[in-house]
Amino acid sequence: MKVALLGATRGMGRAVARALAARGDRLFLLGRDERELGRSASDLEIRGAADRVGFAHADLLDSSTFAPALEQAEKELDGLDAVVVTAGLFAEQEALENDPERCERLLQANFTGTVCFCEAARKRLLARGGGTLCAFSSVAGDRGRKPVVLYGAAKAGLSHYFEGIDHRFHAQGLRAVLVKPGFVKTGMTAGLEPPPFAGEPEAAAEIVVRALDRGTPVVYAPGIWRFILLAIRMLPRAVMRRIGF
Ligand SMILES: NC(=O)c1ccc[n+]([C@@H]2O[C@H](COP(=O)([O-])OP(=O)(O)OC[C@H]3O[C@@H](n4cnc5c(N)ncnc54)[C@H](OP(=O)(O)O)[C@@H]3O)[C@@H](O)[C@H]2O)c1
Repeated sequence: MKVALLGATRGMGRAVARALAARGDRLFLLGRDERELGRSASDLEIRGAADRVGFAHADLLDSSTFAPALEQAEKELDGLDAVVVTAGLFAEQEALENDPERCERLLQANFTGTVCFCEAARKRLLARGGGTLCAFSSVAGDRGRKPVVLYGAAKAGLSHYFEGIDHRFHAQGLRAVLVKPGFVKTGMTAGLEPPPFAGEPEAAAEIVVRALDRGTPVVYAPGIWRFILLAIRMLPRAVMRRIGF
């Protein structure tokens, strides 16, 4: 498979890229830190990626970088089967409430930037007859909750967008794959108390690669979070107002 990945220098993105490299897929990396991209590309080549792993500058906070980065990925891979966006920002609710600029950056990267990048990628995939577009939302987008009001709102918007493009473009060959991680131990969650059922990035990556191969529209990682969120979605508003979860 020929795959372009945005956000694969760390965390779950890196684990997904490594799993794809190990089976000999052709990869191209997109991101904002060229030194890290170069290091990650060499790492993936050593781990078995087919051919040279190229990379290009793309920043979710700068939409002018999207088209040239995707153009270069498509050119160097000689086509594109899948585009995977794991890039994103996280901050705790209080930090965002107390810092409007940080809050705006997070909303911009996780919703507007991600959706606009996905739109550019979707058009490219459909122009070639179809392909797989995958992005990482969050269980935080499944219900408005006290600790993740702002982060969750951006992820809810992204989830909604992915459902919409699945309905609108599936018949034209688009496979829209939305990943909803629960708590996964990465740099993003470093310093937070892991809840029960916290997952590892490598296990999440296995779920993601299977979903990419099958074109599964929505997957939770770890899978148990599907059932946890099912229960949380059923809780009455009066209960949600009282509990801290
Ligand atoms: N970990 C969890 O428990 C969890 C739970 C739910 C959802 N998620 C979601 O899953 C995804 C991956 O999370 P993770 O834990 O693997 O995160 P991570 O380890 O913090 O990695 C995030 C990646 O995003 C990139 N990135 C950040 N801002 C960017 C920007 N403006 N432009 C381009 N790239 C940017 C980072 O690159 P730099 O090196 O340039 O910063 C890094 O490669 C995220 O969308 C996150 O919201 C994670």
